Amino acid sequence: MNLKIAVLAGDGIGPEVILQAKKALYAIGVVYHHEFIFEDALVGATAIDKTGTSLPQQTLNLCLNTDAVLFGAVGDPAYDNNSDTALNPAQGVLKLRKELGLFTNVRPIKTYPTLLNSSPLKQEIIDGIDFVVFRELTGGAYYSEKKINQEGTIASDLLEYSEEEIARIAHLAFKSAEKRKNKVTMVDKANVLETSRLWRKVVQNIALDYPDVALNFLYADTAAMQIILNPKQFDVILTENLFGDILSDEASAITGSIGLLASASFGTSNALFEPIHGSHPLAKGKNIANPIASIVSAAMLLEHFGLHEEAQKVHEAVLKSIEYNVVTIDLNPGTSFGTNEVGEFVSNYILNKDDLLYFNNDNVHIGQSTIV
Ligand code: IPM
Ligand code: MG
Repeated sequence: MNLKIAVLAGDGIGPEVILQAKKALYAIGVVYHHEFIFEDALVGATAIDKTGTSLPQQTLNLCLNTDAVLFGAVGDPAYDNNSDTALNPAQGVLKLRKELGLFTNVRPIKTYPTLLNSSPLKQEIIDGIDFVVFRELTGGAYYSEKKINQEGTIASDLLEYSEEEIARIAHLAFKSAEKRKNKVTMVDKANVLETSRLWRKVVQNIALDYPDVALNFLYADTAAMQIILNPKQFDVILTENLFGDILSDEASAITGSIGLLASASFGTSNALFEPIHGSHPLAKGKNIANPIASIVSAAMLLEHFGLHEEAQKVHEAVLKSIEYNVVTIDLNPGTSFGTNEVGEFVSNYILNKDDLLYFNNDNVHIGQSTIV
């Protein structure tokens, strides 16, 4: 397969972690005979510095004309609260989502058995959790009309959804549930919000097309509580933009390290893959950022194009790196490995699986030679 991939590494640790994802994809390309052509483009604060805007037209054009986007992270304290939208890195992300029509954001939440003690929750609560958040990404309060009066004392953010916006993501959520554990939990605030009542009506109708999938409803406040109390009850969580933003961060935190989790955003003709963590400016250039979330994002990209075996191989390599304790400081405070070494291990594992089977914790000298 030939794929053209736009690489928007962004700010802070973005470029370091994305480099490791590229290395993993390159290794997959070699082993499975695919050609991945990477084209870099600017986004976020880095783009503001060089071009005066967080999402240059050239970047957008590239994304519109590639098969997929691999995205790092954006954000820089120098710009983050800027009210001039062109000079605000987050606004660049919102514009990119809208322009690419990425209406569905998917965040798988899973635990790694060897890392259970990194979670802030008790092991018995999180052991074996496996759910996915489907967050609507191009509607709701993020994109509806915003107002502030002349005096700057009264502001409002409209929260608007159409049936069509709800239906298109709902179908994807039900289809995903059919391949998983056949359960969709719709999260809303139907006791208060008109939009939530519309979501319920539309989703209930769509559920009729998926008779094997059980549908239940939770209010957003209850859902926030249940994610902590009993996360194993979830399979697919379906929700609107703002609730999804909040709940998916909460869900990611219970697994132990935000540095492990990836996400994918889909539209009708575009797809973007990114780690869920931010740009972490303080860690920039220190070779300490965990590249696994970015590498797993690359696996989601492979999965999206039907390259299941290849995606599995990446997951396997990541599991091995954790098993061999070739991990960054967030997972092991005494580690001697950094971003580069973890990435190197993963790509070398993909390239040389059999040789790596002779490894053990004492003789791994990643970076010089991964073959013993
Ligand atoms: C996310 C982020 C963004 C959002 C920000 C950077 C605008 O928090 O991707 O979850 O709120 O959607
Ligand atoms: Mg968020």
